[in-house]
Amino acid sequence: MANARAMLLFLYLFCSSLFSIVSSRNLYRDFDITWGDNRAKILNSGQLLTLSLDKTSGSGFQSRHQYLFGKIDMQIKLVAGDSAGTVTAYYLSSQGPTHDEIDFEFLGNLSGDPYTLHTNVFTQGKGNREIQFRLWFDPTRDFHTYSVLWNSRHIIFMVDGTPIRVFNNLERTGVPFPKTQPMRIYSSLWNADDWATRGGLIKTNWSHAPFIASYRNFKADACVFVAGKSRCPSRKMAGGGGSGGAWMLYKMDLESRRRMRWVQRNCMIYNYCADRKRFPQGLPPECSVAA
Ligand SMILES: *[C@@H]1O[C@H](CO)[C@@H](O)[C@H](O)[C@H]1NC(C)=O
Ligand SMILES: *[C@@H]1O[C@H](CO)[C@@H](O)[C@H](O)[C@H]1NC(C)=O
Repeated sequence: MANARAMLLFLYLFCSSLFSIVSSRNLYRDFDITWGDNRAKILNSGQLLTLSLDKTSGSGFQSRHQYLFGKIDMQIKLVAGDSAGTVTAYYLSSQGPTHDEIDFEFLGNLSGDPYTLHTNVFTQGKGNREIQFRLWFDPTRDFHTYSVLWNSRHIIFMVDGTPIRVFNNLERTGVPFPKTQPMRIYSSLWNADDWATRGGLIKTNWSHAPFIASYRNFKADACVFVAGKSRCPSRKMAGGGGSGGAWMLYKMDLESRRRMRWVQRNCMIYNYCADRKRFPQGLPPECSVAA
């Protein structure tokens, strides 16, 4: 009897401490709605964020913190149905003319036609590094996890834990790598029917508005930049348990390279490194170094 009570008490304490960890992960705490009036909403006590787009305006949010290296995960469920002309942008960016940027952009499509996932990397204000994919699932049916793993070695774009693109630190060959400018996370849902639909071929069908994208389970295991200093998760835990800074030492193993090759072979629809017409003077230097 006494044991059973102790057990119950233990369970109660255990569960309530779990609850406090879960409930402290709160989108109110991590993000500010930055535009679109009440089109952007944080719901369910901070567990869900939605952006919406109608004929008058889109909407957007940004992170309160700035990050300098980290593993940043967000679950996103994209605009369903006829989403042609809409773009859901989710990216990290620093500020100013020589800014660095890591982009995911999801280009909507007609009902039943696939989204395009457009990615790009800017370093020192220079982008033009577009790689585009089709996803191997319908990104509007469920939430999927889109991640950026950014350490001093590389930036890896991941979808549901599968690496799809890597931007290596090739400073030794003269290509700048983002490593000094802290970045905020931004996301917005907007109308881009002048270019997102194969050069404006298809117009946004406003009779389907409002268009809605949803976000949840944000996780930043990252160095947070506060008052000019970067505060990183404890390195003691690096390598153990998959959290607490393990990303700092992360190196792609054979299995993750194999999975990335699979995605690139089967799902990549555009790669600037293969676009010789666009770069008649020669491909950018990072293209000639094997990833
Ligand atoms: C929409 O789907 C069509 C048909 O599969 C495809 O050709 C087009 O590139 C898609 N558009 C976007 C923006 O992904
Ligand atoms: C827009 O959507 C409505 C409702 O589904 C449909 O009746 C109409 O034909 C669509 N317009 C265009 C231009 O596709």
